[in-house]
Amino acid sequence: MRIAVVGSGYVGLVAGACFADLGHEVILVDNDQSKMTALRNGQVPIHEKFLPELLTRNRGTRLQFSDDLKEAVRVSAAVFVAVGTPPTESGEADLSYVESVAREISGAIDDYKVVVEKSTVPVYTSEWIRRIILRNGTDPELFDVASNPEFLREGTAVTDFLFPDRIVIGCDSSRSAEVLREIYAPLTGATYYHRAEAIPQPDRALIPPPLIVTSTKSAELIKHASNAFLAMKISFINAVASVCESVGANVNQVVHGIGTDTRIGSRFLSPGIGYGGSCFPKDVMAFRAVAREHGYDFRLLDEVMHINEDQRHRFLRKVNSALWTLRGKRLGVLGLAFKGGTDDIRESPAIAIVQSLLQQGSKITAYDPAGMERAREVIGDHITYANSSYEAAHDADALLILTEWEEFANLDLGRVRQELKYPIVIDGRNLYDPEAMAAQGFTYYSVGRATSHPDGVPAAVLKNGKKA
Ligand code: UDX
Repeated sequence: MRIAVVGSGYVGLVAGACFADLGHEVILVDNDQSKMTALRNGQVPIHEKFLPELLTRNRGTRLQFSDDLKEAVRVSAAVFVAVGTPPTESGEADLSYVESVAREISGAIDDYKVVVEKSTVPVYTSEWIRRIILRNGTDPELFDVASNPEFLREGTAVTDFLFPDRIVIGCDSSRSAEVLREIYAPLTGATYYHRAEAIPQPDRALIPPPLIVTSTKSAELIKHASNAFLAMKISFINAVASVCESVGANVNQVVHGIGTDTRIGSRFLSPGIGYGGSCFPKDVMAFRAVAREHGYDFRLLDEVMHINEDQRHRFLRKVNSALWTLRGKRLGVLGLAFKGGTDDIRESPAIAIVQSLLQQGSKITAYDPAGMERAREVIGDHITYANSSYEAAHDADALLILTEWEEFANLDLGRVRQELKYPIVIDGRNLYDPEAMAAQGFTYYSVGRATSHPDGVPAAVLKNGKKA
């Protein structure tokens, strides 16, 4: 199958590389010429496991890069639109990139094509794409608009794409459904998984993944509703964590107790400093806005956003309660990316917290295994960038853990204690066991669990003169 993918951001680049790996002829189109040249020359613009391998083995053969959208559409049977849909000031998705792509596509349709929404878009966008293409004079028999939402997570994007829990295709005609079925046949028929060079299978993979065929509107809603539900799950457990802190319960035990109910499930129940990234914050807002536009006041989502925002403030209050004033204090910060396994800092709660700490006059030395280059573009030289976790901890009044990188969960604690000026760790991601930290000599703050103190610390140095 010949496929054009328009937009070379996270979704477009990963989808393009994966479609090529499935055996399709793919043209990845972007009007950013320098990006296309870099990709042609072998550069990989994002930090994503297995992506370099997929690009290397398909580049120049089954995967071409182009800035000529019309030509790519002309030679393709399906055109996946994966351009950005950033939020406007009022929280709606800005669909101007989608619209201009639709306009341009319409001039290049001379035989049957399926135009597929891959970007996360509000319900009714497929209707609009259809109208724009018709308005520009295209014969209605020559195209269909379909929706094929993408559920990949950053950091595991390639694996998520190739081993999905499900594939959703929203089609209003059997002809377009047939094209999409054929594109995903190597996955739904499981032939891809038997190839020697296939990407390694993750735990919990469902093989073959189910294909769910819906109307286009339902598919559009599935994407927004999925992301809003997951964000709600995180805010729910963050709210429960706050209650745990008030009553002296342990949120980990609560998560274990509720997560084993198979109707609830334990995934996406890790409390922390709130969700960030390029999807959840934007999509919850956009879903809220589109529901309102269509007459439903989805106030539950306001609370999801409110709890998420509050989580950062709660963490900052913990830093204050551990250190009192912050002016002139040195803080070691572990993590700048919005989550572990990615260099992406968009809407990162870690960055927001660092900026607040700077405003309060603290001096920060931060380390992130992948996100420092991007963080520097935003924070500049207002902080010091360390080469390791230990360097970040060196001579600091406290160590703050802000991103759930695996390597932060496996630190040499003896070494961390030696580096720190005071053995205080404030963990926004619950990577350590409070008792074990106390046994290692730390005063340890986390989320939804009591603060632990090393044995033998004089009561006067503890908050309120007593162990929390
Ligand atoms: C998300 C969706 O998971 C994915 O299906 C969709 O296609 C895009 O948006 P992503 O933004 O890559 O993926 O990250 P995800 O792993 O979902 O994490 C989002 C945020 O939630 C991160 O900031 C993470 O730290 C936070 N999170 C996640 C929690 O705080 N607790 C959890 O239990 C899970």
